[in-house]
Amino acid sequence: MKALKFYARFLPSFTAIGFVARGLSRRPVRADFSGQTWMVTGATGGIGRAVALAAAAAGAHVIAVGRRPALLEALAASATGTITPVAADLSLVARNRELAERHPEIDVLVNNVGILDTGYHRTEEGFSRMYATNLLGHFALTEGLLARGRLRRGTVINVTSGGAYNAPLNLPGLDAREADFNGFAAYASQKRAQIALADHWNAAVPGLRAYTMHPGWVRTDGVRSALPWMDRWIGAVLRTTAQGADTILWLAATQPPPQADVIWFDRAPRPAHMFATTREAKTTIPALAARLQHDMEGVTG
Ligand SMILES: NC(=O)c1ccc[n+]([C@@H]2O[C@H](COP(=O)([O-])OP(=O)(O)OC[C@H]3O[C@@H](n4cnc5c(N)ncnc54)[C@H](OP(=O)(O)O)[C@@H]3O)[C@@H](O)[C@H]2O)c1
Repeated sequence: MKALKFYARFLPSFTAIGFVARGLSRRPVRADFSGQTWMVTGATGGIGRAVALAAAAAGAHVIAVGRRPALLEALAASATGTITPVAADLSLVARNRELAERHPEIDVLVNNVGILDTGYHRTEEGFSRMYATNLLGHFALTEGLLARGRLRRGTVINVTSGGAYNAPLNLPGLDAREADFNGFAAYASQKRAQIALADHWNAAVPGLRAYTMHPGWVRTDGVRSALPWMDRWIGAVLRTTAQGADTILWLAATQPPPQADVIWFDRAPRPAHMFATTREAKTTIPALAARLQHDMEGVTG
């Protein structure tokens, strides 16, 4: 019943209905990203693919990261503009570290990769796959680039979800053990933490602009596999991947002043809390950053 209420409440806004009602379909983002280097994670499908293609078409050199070489090659071949495909398993801290080491200065980093597992999976580094993919990997990649001075005056865009509205900022929910695993609860905690990470980077790194955005509900393979009922029942009104990519491109093009504890959605800062139960954080942003740092440093090699 709680889930039904959640989806019913946000359906008009988060689907294509909201995108069209806000007049965004009549105002395409006009951008010139010439001379910029972008890195987009999870670029072989869904929203990440749409972002990579649109940014390249607008002149950016896009480093597109995914784990399936054939899809990466197909992406690069279908681009208008330059896409450099890079194969990496983003659920591994070590691979995220390597990415940060290998690549040049980045103007726009899109921390897009994200999953909602229905069962528990553990990475070879010992973390739950969701925690590693949705949060720890983003942290390792972004911190790695920052540590090498490759993102100093750049833009970081974290792709969160309306699922963040279901959890307060907390630590225990991030990397729950197998016995306690609940994919939706983990997703909510990880997506909430992404908002806090943008605030952390804005406070810690002068000149950086970090944002957390929500793409709306988008018809992707990710939704098809994790939420098949959504695709079946409301597939017709889910957003296209281009609509899901819209606010990412708009943020990069317009670079509004970052704001603390907001979610950028449909080209505007929106409240980061919709329910009273999440307003009181169960931890602090420095404690979150310290936890991620600790987990990242625990991975050797
Ligand atoms: N779609 C929505 O309605 C929606 C709503 C709110 C938020 N979001 C967020 O938007 C982001 C993108 O979602 P999406 O729906 O576009 O997802 P998607 O269709 O599942 O696409 C995700 C991409 O990431 C790749 N990927 C997954 N795990 C990877 C790994 N370990 N290493 C490298 N690449 C990996 C996938 O490749 P493989 O094919 O190899 O797995 C795929 O190309 C996520 O952060 C999601 O939480 C989506």
